[in-house]
Amino acid sequence: MSILTLQGVSRTFDGLIALDAVDLSVEKGEIVGLIGPNGAGKTTLVNVVTGALRPSAGQVIFDGTSIGGRKPYQIGRLGVARTYQVVQPFPEMTALENVMAPAVFAAGASDMETARKKAREALEFVGLADSADIIASELTLAGRKRLELAKSLAMKPKVLLLDEVNAGLNPAEIDGALELIRKIAASGVTVIIIEHLMKVVMTLCTRIVVLHHGAKIAEGTPEEISKDEQVIKAYLGKRYSQNLAGKAGGNG
Ligand SMILES: Nc1ncnc2c1ncn2[C@@H]1O[C@H](COP(=O)(O)OP(=O)(O)OP(=O)(O)O)[C@@H](O)[C@H]1O
Ligand SMILES: [Mg+2]
Repeated sequence: MSILTLQGVSRTFDGLIALDAVDLSVEKGEIVGLIGPNGAGKTTLVNVVTGALRPSAGQVIFDGTSIGGRKPYQIGRLGVARTYQVVQPFPEMTALENVMAPAVFAAGASDMETARKKAREALEFVGLADSADIIASELTLAGRKRLELAKSLAMKPKVLLLDEVNAGLNPAEIDGALELIRKIAASGVTVIIIEHLMKVVMTLCTRIVVLHHGAKIAEGTPEEISKDEQVIKAYLGKRYSQNLAGKAGGNG
């Protein structure tokens, strides 16, 4: 059984169709890439799955339970977590305190000591153990991105949706983030990653789904997607696909 299924999911905003009857099945253990041009509906899909937005139509099924239209905290407690395209730490709180909050509210840590312990584990996992007492706003961008990951991991998710976690990072930081995302997947979390950097998507993902004007226009392996005429036309561009020919991984 799929861990996450979307059946005919649509979302409109005053007549604008942001998601257009999207069907999607994600299997446990996959790393699925969600790509498409600006405004394609990627973040809207994350918002609908995590309960920030109600679907206008269709079904969202998580682990056998219909979750479409439920509240974010309910969906979070069931095991769906996300990161935000624009990182949103509590700026005045320390890294540790930032991670304690989701450990209490979503993962149900019953006392502060347990929450602190869970938060420390999450910080350690993302490589921020030494930054636990640093005020969130004083972390580097790469540090704040890792903090976002720690916050979502403290929710003990089964499915994690990453909305452009690598945007703004330098190549070395991106390599570090890739390693961390692989480690998250290896720990048993199913990952859906929105990403504009093709190098990241092509090397990391087991499967790629392409959105364009809210509709799913293709899905397949990185190799299939990189050769798909419709995807090249809508998003990748000719130059990229030529670069990629005969060179798995390619240039981003
Ligand atoms: N809350 C909202 N109210 C009105 N329109 C919205 C809202 N959220 C998204 N939209 C519109 O829906 C469409 C899809 O937006 P979305 O943010 O999902 O795109 P995206 O694929 O994440 O783009 P990007 O790559 O730029 O992040 C856009 O036309 C956007 O302007
Ligand atoms: Mg977006």
